Order: sequence, then structure tokens, then C-alpha cells
Amino acid sequence: MTAPQRKIFVSSALPYANGAIHMGHLVEYLQSDIWSRFQKLRGHRCTYVCAADAHGTPIMVKAREEKITPEQLVSRVSKEQLEDLRAFGVAFDNFHSTHSAENEELVGRIYTALREAGHIYTKSIEQAFDEKEKMFLPDRFVRGTCPRCKSEDQYGDACEVCGATYTPHDLIAPVSVLSGTTPVWRKSEHYFFRLSAFGTQLRQWMTRASLHQNITSKLEEWFEAGLQDWDISRDAPYFGFLIPGTKDKYFYVWLDAPIGYLASFLHLCRQRPDLDFDEYWASGANTEAYHFIGKDIVYFHTLFWPAVLAGSGLRQPTSVFAHGFLTINGKKMSKSRGTFINARTYLRHLDPNYLRYYYAAKLGPGMDDIDLSLDDFAARVNADLVGKLVNIASRCAGFISRNFSGRMSATLDDQDLFDRFAGASEQIAAHYEEREYSKAMRVIMSLADEANRYIEQKKPWLLARDPAQLADVQTICTQGLNLFRTLMIYLSPVLPSLAEKSRALFREKAWTWQSAAEPLLNHAINDYEPLLVRVEPAQLERIIEESRESTNVPIDVPANNPETPQISIDEFSRIDLRVAKILKAEAVEGADKLLQLTLDIGDGTRKVFAGIKSAYEPSALTGRFVVLVANLEPRKMRFGTSEGMVLAAGPGGKDIFLVSPDSGAQAGMRVK
Ligand code: 2FM
Ligand code: ZN
Repeated sequence: MTAPQRKIFVSSALPYANGAIHMGHLVEYLQSDIWSRFQKLRGHRCTYVCAADAHGTPIMVKAREEKITPEQLVSRVSKEQLEDLRAFGVAFDNFHSTHSAENEELVGRIYTALREAGHIYTKSIEQAFDEKEKMFLPDRFVRGTCPRCKSEDQYGDACEVCGATYTPHDLIAPVSVLSGTTPVWRKSEHYFFRLSAFGTQLRQWMTRASLHQNITSKLEEWFEAGLQDWDISRDAPYFGFLIPGTKDKYFYVWLDAPIGYLASFLHLCRQRPDLDFDEYWASGANTEAYHFIGKDIVYFHTLFWPAVLAGSGLRQPTSVFAHGFLTINGKKMSKSRGTFINARTYLRHLDPNYLRYYYAAKLGPGMDDIDLSLDDFAARVNADLVGKLVNIASRCAGFISRNFSGRMSATLDDQDLFDRFAGASEQIAAHYEEREYSKAMRVIMSLADEANRYIEQKKPWLLARDPAQLADVQTICTQGLNLFRTLMIYLSPVLPSLAEKSRALFREKAWTWQSAAEPLLNHAINDYEPLLVRVEPAQLERIIEESRESTNVPIDVPANNPETPQISIDEFSRIDLRVAKILKAEAVEGADKLLQLTLDIGDGTRKVFAGIKSAYEPSALTGRFVVLVANLEPRKMRFGTSEGMVLAAGPGGKDIFLVSPDSGAQAGMRVK
């Protein structure tokens, strides 16, 4: 009996259109893509949408820096983001933008409904204002000394050192990050959404939505602390939608961003008469709606968003699924360690299926962080995908092609074994449904072990030498191939392109989840072509190398690192240190921290990349003498080759100090 068809809306969080997709983003997009592919494979009507998160101050400021309009920035960046996501197999049914006619229409509709129902009021508030830039500053655009622990250069909303939260007003010696001037405090009228009136409704929703325990405990804490009304407006200049009836007040990006989920869906509905917007978002009685998000934006999605929907008479999400953050090699992604890996860098070297599998093997339904340990990644992908999974097909398919003109036998060698594989279907499906992907992968890989043991026992390669036993070789290899096929169907939400290739091997038109229940018999297959190769450590090294923005500034190494081993005078003398004169210093397009230096080293010139941009104006460096490590292996970087390294001290940021000789030193002199 087949289950009734469900109508499911799925979204993943909208990426800000001001940066490249990286390994951290991919946790989210792969988790939601796997789920939506799984639902479709099960025969449900699932619609998976996303959009560019286009509005807000950071995007406006970045566009200004690039001397382009915010629209141009958003269109360029989101096009690149979508290309990268597609290359990773993320198959949105629609990818739209929050800066769209559909979103403006829905934001207007929702705001009017909220206002008419009495959920909006205005109040004058005081905020940091940059007189030079003539704009109000978001908390993150003010930095200063933490009022609690006195750490310098902290954001205006929270201290990264002691964890204190506060307002920019509380900072000691606040400074605008835009102009470097001291902000003044100015009053202006803001629009507030009465979140405090939604406590009861939110509690009811929380119970209905059967949220993960991680989220429920967070919500309990917030209820306990009391719900605060929410400031949904920002003053001009701002990149966003104007609030109806005002000339210089805009909707805060976080009001229109989740409405962007609906706008993307509406945009799709208008092209697809079979999809009815109201059926999903008005009553929502026969449909389900799920948002996949990261743990940092739970507050927006489980308080503001369901309250805004309820307050404007729309349906609330069936549930919200939050995942944890990504660490690489156990640490936060870092540009200096080369672990801030962009999707594009990965794609230049490795097959996306590897990452899709690795994340799936680590993901569960909770908010625990997941670690991408690069050694473990290579070991696991090679062992599971190449050593176990693909191995089943590669050991069997050749015999069928060579000895039986590509035709599989009419019966299986071991029906019970096949039935055990087919019988795992509902258990695996339940794991996918519950987002217990790591459990699903474990069950599938233990079946792959069984398949390999079966082939090992039967040894078709020995039987094939004896003409009398050739018929057995056909049924054994047909058995092996059918076990492989079943596993590939189970894995196809995770490994869509590998599943495609496997389906082509079996010359089948399409697979559904049900296809795994019946073996494929007396059926001609194509010749086997290698499905996947091993991950080589050198590929990972190249990814790290290309992701490392600067090897020059010792940001991660404390000055007096007690673990730095001693070296002999001979070892030291192998370092060719020379005085060099900076002929030219230039910014490097696309690199936040680098300057390219052209150096005179006495007997020629060198080009070197140095991570000193945050501390030096390029023009101030011309003519300055520095110390160069002249015999350092040339290092290929994304922007060109660095032919050496100049010496600098300091923790980074503005505190980087180039090492220079006393006056009188000449370019080319050896430093000893
Ligand atoms: O945190 C972020 O990256 C946001 N751009 C996510 C927005 S999700 C939704 F609400 F639009
Ligand atoms: Zn502090």
C-alpha cells in the first residue's frame, strides 16, 4: 500500500548576497536538499525554495565600496551563489530574491494586516549616528571597548572576549567602522511589532510544531525572560523596502527576509498553475511547511516569524529544523589556516558527492556542531564510497558484460539476501524523514558490507574460469548488481549524480523509492564505467593552499609560543634574509587582507603577497626598506605566485608592524 501523497513546502535560509558560498553554508543547503530529494523520491509533492537575501546595511555599504548599485551587487553575487549550489547538486524548485516585486507585494500585504490588527506602533528611540557618513549605524557597525572586561575593538552588541551583551551606548570609546569617527546619539521614530502580545499563541505553536528539544529549551528560556517588542524599521539611507506611508523609513531586513520564502514560492506559483499559493500559506490545512536554518537564527524563525504569520492571518510553519555550525579540523574556519574553504575552491579539486556523503554521515536532527576533519573525510569517503559501495558494482558488472552480453540472469542467487536489503526500506526512510542521516548512512553501509561479504564468499572470479560454473557467475553477479542498485536508490537523495550514473548503467528511465523493492532481472545493462575515484591527500592540500589568504602574518601563533622548538645556528643560516626596498605596493582584487609588493632585492626584483592591508596604506609603503625571506619556496596563491615573504610582527588587524632595518641599509644586504 502506498502512503497518501503529501504536499510539502521546504525552504533553506536565504544566503546574504554579499559573499561566496563556503563549506559552512553547505551544511544547510545539503541537509535541506537531501530532505527535499528524499520526499520527492517517495512520491510526495515537495517544493523546495530559496532566494537571495538582498537587503540591509552590509550590502548597501559593500556596493558603495565597489562603486556599484546594491542591485548590481546582489545580482552578481547571487548568480555566483546559485551556480555554486547547483554544482553541489542543490536542486531548488525556485531561487528568487527578497528584492523582488513578489516580496514587496507580500511585505505590503503582511504589514497592512498587522497594522490593521493593531500589532504595530511607533516609538522614538535613540541610536548611534555617523555624522560624516550621515547615517544611523547598526550595532555591528560600532566598535569600542567592552564595558565589562575592557577588551578593545569589540562589536556594539556583544563582546567576543567575555560574552557580555549590551548596546553600542554602553561601549567605552565607541567608533563608527564606516568613518572612524565617534558616533553621536540621535533620536528617530521607529516602528515596532508587538511580539509581547503573542506569548500564548507562540507557546501553542511550539507544542504543535514538535520542535527538536534543542529548540524547545531555547524557546523556554526566551519565554522565561519575557518577549520584547521588535523594532522592524530602519532609517534612510537603507537598502530595502520603504514602509508604506513614510518617506524615509524602511523595513528592517529581518522582516522581509523570511517573507522572501513566500515570495519565492509565489513567484513559482505564478508560473505553475498546478501550485496554489493560498493552499500552502492561507489556511495551510492540507499542506506542510518546513524551514531549514542554522542555530544562530532560531530566534527569528521561532518567535518573530510565527508571530508575524499568526498576526497577519497566515498559516504558521509545520516545523523549523535547526542545525549546528561547521568546524574544520576541530576549529572555526580560518583564512590564515586555509580552512575557510569556498564552494568554488572545493569544486576545482573534488567531486561534490564526497562532501554530500560526508555531511550526511555526520548529520543528525539536532543543533550539534559538525566537524569536517580533512583526514577523516578522505579516509571515510575512500572506505565507504569507493571501497564498499562502488566496489560492489565494479566487481560484478564486468562479468555480465564480458560473458553474458550485458544481460543479467532471470533469477537471483540468494532471494533472502535481496529481501533483507529491500526490507530495510522503511527503516532507512524513517531515518531520512527524521533527518537522522547519519543513522541512515550507517544502515546503508552495513548492508554494503554484507554485499561485499557475499561477493567475497562466492568468488565469481574463480568460478568464471570453469565453463561448467558460468551460469552461477551470472546469477551471483546479477545478485551483486541488484544489491548495489538497491543501495544506490536508498542513497540517491545524498548522491544524486552518482545515482544518475548508476541508473544509466542499469538502463532504467527513472527511480522511485519503490524501485528498490523489486529486483531487476533478465535485463540488459550498459558497460561499466568507473563511478568514483579515490580522494587523494594532495587534492586536499591544494584546497588548503588555495584557501590560505596570507602566510605572512603570524595571526595564529602567539609571540612567545613556548612550543616553538630551538634551532641550530646552521639551521638559521639556511634562511636567506635580505634587505629589500618596496618599489610598489598595490591592493589585490578579491583579497581582503593582501597587498602585492614589488621589491628591489639588489640583484633584481621580486613580487610578494603580504597580509598587511589592514595596517598599511599602499601608498605609504613606497620606498620603505623591509626584510625579506628570499629563499622561501615560491607559493602559488589564488592571485598569483608569492616569491618570498616579508617579515612582520603583531597579532593582526591594525596591529601589524613591518620589520625594517635602520637607515643606511641597502637593498640586497644579507641580514645575519
Ligand atoms: O543569517 C543569514 O544568513 C540570513 N541571510 C538568513 C535569512 S533566512 C530567512 F529568514 F530569510
Ligand atoms: Zn568583554
